[in-house]
Amino acid sequence: MEKDERIASQINKLEEKFKNSGQDVSSYLDGLLYQRYLTYWDYIHLDTLLSLQVPRTYFPDEEIFIMYHQITELYFKLILHELKQLVDDKSQDLDFFIERTTRINSYYQALVTSFGIMIKGMEKEQFLRYRMALLPASGFQSVQYRMIELYATPMENLVHHTERTHFSEEHTVEELYEHIYWKKGATDLQSGEKTLTLKQFEYRYTPRLIRIAKQVKGRTLYHKFKALPEASRNNPQLIDALKKLDHNANINWPLVHMGSAYRYLDRENGAVNATGGTNWKDFLPPSFQKIIFFPTLHTKEELDNWGKHWVEHTFSPLHNQK
Ligand code: HEM
Repeated sequence: MEKDERIASQINKLEEKFKNSGQDVSSYLDGLLYQRYLTYWDYIHLDTLLSLQVPRTYFPDEEIFIMYHQITELYFKLILHELKQLVDDKSQDLDFFIERTTRINSYYQALVTSFGIMIKGMEKEQFLRYRMALLPASGFQSVQYRMIELYATPMENLVHHTERTHFSEEHTVEELYEHIYWKKGATDLQSGEKTLTLKQFEYRYTPRLIRIAKQVKGRTLYHKFKALPEASRNNPQLIDALKKLDHNANINWPLVHMGSAYRYLDRENGAVNATGGTNWKDFLPPSFQKIIFFPTLHTKEELDNWGKHWVEHTFSPLHNQK
């Protein structure tokens, strides 16, 4: 097609597009005429992005700590980006399901393999000092981490494992939310007092989490999987991808993360208190939390040993790295 013809047909398509929404194409062409050329730094808001690392101390490693949390939150956003498309999907297309689940696993893989930046990439002396300027903030307050759980599995699977059998989808979102595992982890068992970290988090995010939980009730990723045609549900590639997602989200990432807590906060005679006030040695281990997004995909043996195997061979070396 000659250049003039091509431009003419593009203008016709634009005219069609704008006419359909009651708009006049020539005004938009004027806009195009005056519009500045886009630059990379404008497109990704680079200056804003690079202005978001604001340390509270002069310890140089604090910027590594801030940036790696921000990198993780962007990966959590990528994971949510795919989860939302899976939850909203009406096609029940198997390839789409496998493709998107595989993408989510690649994001977790990046997080799990890069967590060494936190475990080995900072000076312990610096960390133990600048972390005191962060109280009572904690990654415990990562709302995207909680949102991933709500999009992935029904809320009754997130109830604290000691009470989980007493709850089902018959319970309201509000009832289930009161018994969600992480609240118990940040509540003093004797006094029943919630940590300030938890109170701050609940005050800011409870409305959003309740809204999301109601929006995805009955159509979380787990529900979507169960609603697939039998042939798709039994597809070994899909089952493998979903089991891998469950392990990445609820065993592999929590364990590498716990590795950093052991590196910096573990002590011969106990542990350093966490900034969020949880008893982290009792709260963080995946074998204690027993969060499982897709229980029916795992064998009894896998469920009984959830998060245990990895500990044996993973943590002994980390312990020796003091
Ligand atoms: C030196 C590195 C780190 C250490 C020592 C550390 C330590 C801890 C501790 C002790 C807790 C328990 C809650 C509390 O009482 O504060 C916690 C929770 C948490 N942290 Fe970290 N953390 C580190 C890095 C990160 C990073 C980079 C992220 C990424 C966003 C993160 C996200 C989380 C999340 C989501 C929780 C809640 C986990 C759960 O509910 O199971 N942490 N962290």
